Amino acid sequence: MSLSQIEFRRAMGQFATGVTILTVDLEGAVHGMTANAFASVSLDPLLVLVCVDHSARTHAHLHAKKRFGINVLCENQRAISEYYAQAVSANDEAETRVGARFERTRHGTPILHGALAYLECRLVSTQEAGDHTIFIAEVEDVVVRDGKPLLFFRGDYRSIGDSAF
Ligand SMILES: Cc1cc2nc3c(=O)[nH]c(=O)nc-3n(C[C@H](O)[C@H](O)[C@H](O)COP(=O)(O)O)c2cc1C
Repeated sequence: MSLSQIEFRRAMGQFATGVTILTVDLEGAVHGMTANAFASVSLDPLLVLVCVDHSARTHAHLHAKKRFGINVLCENQRAISEYYAQAVSANDEAETRVGARFERTRHGTPILHGALAYLECRLVSTQEAGDHTIFIAEVEDVVVRDGKPLLFFRGDYRSIGDSAF
């Protein structure tokens, strides 16, 4: 059986996910990337993973900085997701164009205002996997707030209904 990338993407699109912005500090500037290949890995120690395409600028930044943030987006942050999904974005226009504002953690990692959750991550290992790298990181701190998530399903953004049934 020869499975095409289109069929693979259709199948994966049936798996609804949240949406995150990976944030890295670049000498005082914020670099962000939209990512939904994010998963919890271990409770002891506290580990998560993100999968990043070799061609993404973030790929080199994660290897170099070895520290990053994962910001879980709220349902009203779709424009921020679209902004950080563009390879050509000048990341310094994030506040004026889509209202993305950041504070810094005590490690200097950018933390996005209004996100549903923030995880402060320290890279512990990497695994090459086809055209992506799996970055496994220890979670050193979290911030959690109330609200509804931004979802991604069948290639489009969605929001959660008021009730599950
Ligand atoms: C909803 C959504 C989820 C995405 N998830 C990932 C992901 O998990 N890994 C990845 O490498 N790219 C993912 N992308 C694509 C990147 O956001 C995109 O290639 C981005 O331009 C890379 O930015 P950079 O070159 O500044 O690192 C996703 C895009 C969207 C819209």
